[in-house]
This record gives sequence, structure tokens and C-alpha cells, in this order.
Amino acid sequence: MGKLRMTDLIDTFNRTHRDLRVSLTDRCSLRCNYCMPLDFDKWLPSDELLTTDELMTVIGVATEHGIDQVRLTGGEPLLRPDIVDIVARIKALPNAPELSITTNGLRLAKLASQLVDAGLSRVNVSLDTLDRERFTAMTHRDRFDDVIAGLNAARDAGLEPIKINSVLMQGINDDEAPTLLKWALEEGFYLRFIEQMPLDAGGIWNRSTMVTAASIFESLSPHFQLNPVPVRGSAPAEEFYVNGGPATVGIIASVSQPFCGSCDRIRLTSDGQLRSCLFSRDEMDLRKVLRNTELSMDEIRSEISARLQKTVLGKLAGHGINNPDFVQPTRPMSAIGG
Ligand code: 5AD
Ligand code: SF4
Repeated sequence: MGKLRMTDLIDTFNRTHRDLRVSLTDRCSLRCNYCMPLDFDKWLPSDELLTTDELMTVIGVATEHGIDQVRLTGGEPLLRPDIVDIVARIKALPNAPELSITTNGLRLAKLASQLVDAGLSRVNVSLDTLDRERFTAMTHRDRFDDVIAGLNAARDAGLEPIKINSVLMQGINDDEAPTLLKWALEEGFYLRFIEQMPLDAGGIWNRSTMVTAASIFESLSPHFQLNPVPVRGSAPAEEFYVNGGPATVGIIASVSQPFCGSCDRIRLTSDGQLRSCLFSRDEMDLRKVLRNTELSMDEIRSEISARLQKTVLGKLAGHGINNPDFVQPTRPMSAIGG
């Protein structure tokens, strides 16, 4: 982490924000059942999506406030037709951030090497099962082979590490944790299990059926020796050495043991709304500022800067999923960005 500066995005709980997640589109080529119902049709109007120039203005201002990591998300970010150009333009910024993408992998076979040439450093690929039929049942698309081809292309292109995000669901793929880990170790991928969060458009999340980090740990332990990777402070371990290391596995207890206390993320939705948390109840409109024809470019940039700081100052201590009065955000994950 760099030195603290006056312009850093520090909130009232003394968290410094370095990581900006940018959703490039709410559209997706899969329909993962914990994310989007099959008949989902509440797409954002395309004229409300930020143009690439508008995105660049926001990311440029954010880097002047100490943002040094940008992750491109969706929906599926590789559906954005100018994705390679977006990567290149972000890497050409004066304070170019480290750049990663979270993708379902379907278009990686085509794009991985171009993305690397444009400056992409890392990729996270979502994959919840190694069984083709289950994949089709979980995503409603018969595209398992495309994900595997995408992963191979990412490796061939030199992306390192390649992270795999897996969400386990009771009665669907919760028996697959050991198989997924064995495969990831053989392939040299870094696997992370993520607890299912109440962010789906269909509202199917249910606390009592959520596969917890504790139960994932239990299902792995008969097959692997797992030792916590030491962390600073009192944060619960979420990374474990497997069979003595150096390989590790992540078990991310987003719901059962939230890590909001060390959160350094802010989010920009594809329609230009700034959010201090996945679970925020309110958003800061940047699109309105970016499209205000009465403002000069300098005025736009300084208003974006003010709104970035205001959003961070309004950030709450935590997501509150475990509070009795928790209300799921009205926007689904696909429209916020993972
Ligand atoms: N809970 C947890 N993870 C989710 N993802 C999408 N929806 C959810 C959810 N409800 C994951 C995807 C992807 C990343 C963007 O977030 O699997 O890896
Ligand atoms: Fe698409 Fe990702 Fe949602 Fe799956 S989880 S439907 S890949 S946006």
C-alpha cells in the first residue's frame, strides 16, 4: 500500500479505499441460478450505460484519489464490444491502476491474449461445477467447454494467478468442493469458494439453505490438510494452505463472518451510479454529472471528485445481512457488479 495522501478516500471508520469495481454491462451470456432467473428481463436501457469516454473520466478521477486497483465486472464484462480498448485506455492513464477482470470465461478463448497485450494483469473466472450437465442446469446454457477453453487460453496468455470463484448451493453442487479443489490444484488455478449472498434478481437466497464457509471447510478437511494462512489482526482466516502449501484455497465467509471492517472497495454500476457497498441502499449519480452539458470538463471532474469523497464518507460500517432489519438491495448483483 502506498503512502496516505490528503486526497485519499478515507471513510468515517478509517478505511482507505484503493479498489474500484467497475461494471461494464448488466447483460450476461449465462443465467447462473443464484444470480439471474431464466426469464430475467429488467435490463438497463442502453442509453443509460456509461460510454467508454465517460468511464474513463470517472476512473481517471478515482486514480487521483488513491485508487490503484480496478476490477472490471458485469454482468459479463467481456460482452462489452470495446473491452480490449477499455483495458488499454485504463492502462494508459498517468497513474495506471492494476487491472483485473471477473468473467464467466466464455469469451476468454477469443480475447485472453489481446487483453494481456492491452495490459490486463489478472483474471477471476466463475465456475461452480466440473460436470457438464450440472453446469448446464446451473447456468441454463450448455457452455461448459467454452469456460475450460477460456481458462486454458488465459493460462497460455500468461495470466497469473488465475482465480476460480465457486458458489456452492445445497442439493445442487455442494458435494463438489473436494473435486473442484483437486482439479484446481492439478491445473494450477487458485480456487475460492464464496458464500452465496442475498443479491440475486430472483430472490431465492435463503439463510437456512446457504452453504456456509464452515460447512465447506468441513467437506474439504477429510481430503486435504488445511492450515490457515496467517492474517493480521483478528480477521477470520479465509485462506488456507493446502497439504502444507504453497498452494492455497479461499473460503470466503461473506455472510457468516463478514470482513467489512477491512473493506477497501467502492463500486461503479454500468449506468454510472457510485455505491460504497454491494449492499448499499442508496447510490450517487455520476451519469447526471457526466452528461450535464452546462459544465466544463474541469467542472465535471471536480464534481465527480466531490461525489467520490461524499460516497465514501457515507459508507456504513458493514453490510448488515445479519441484522434483523436487513433489506436486500433492489438492484441484483448483475446490475451492481461483483
Ligand atoms: N452470491 C455470491 N456470489 C455471487 N456471484 C454472483 N452472484 C452471487 C451471489 N448471489 C459471483 C459470481 C462471480 C462473481 C461476480 O460473483 O459467481 O464469480
Ligand atoms: Fe452471468 Fe456472473 Fe450472473 Fe452467472 S453470476 S449469470 S456469469 S453475471
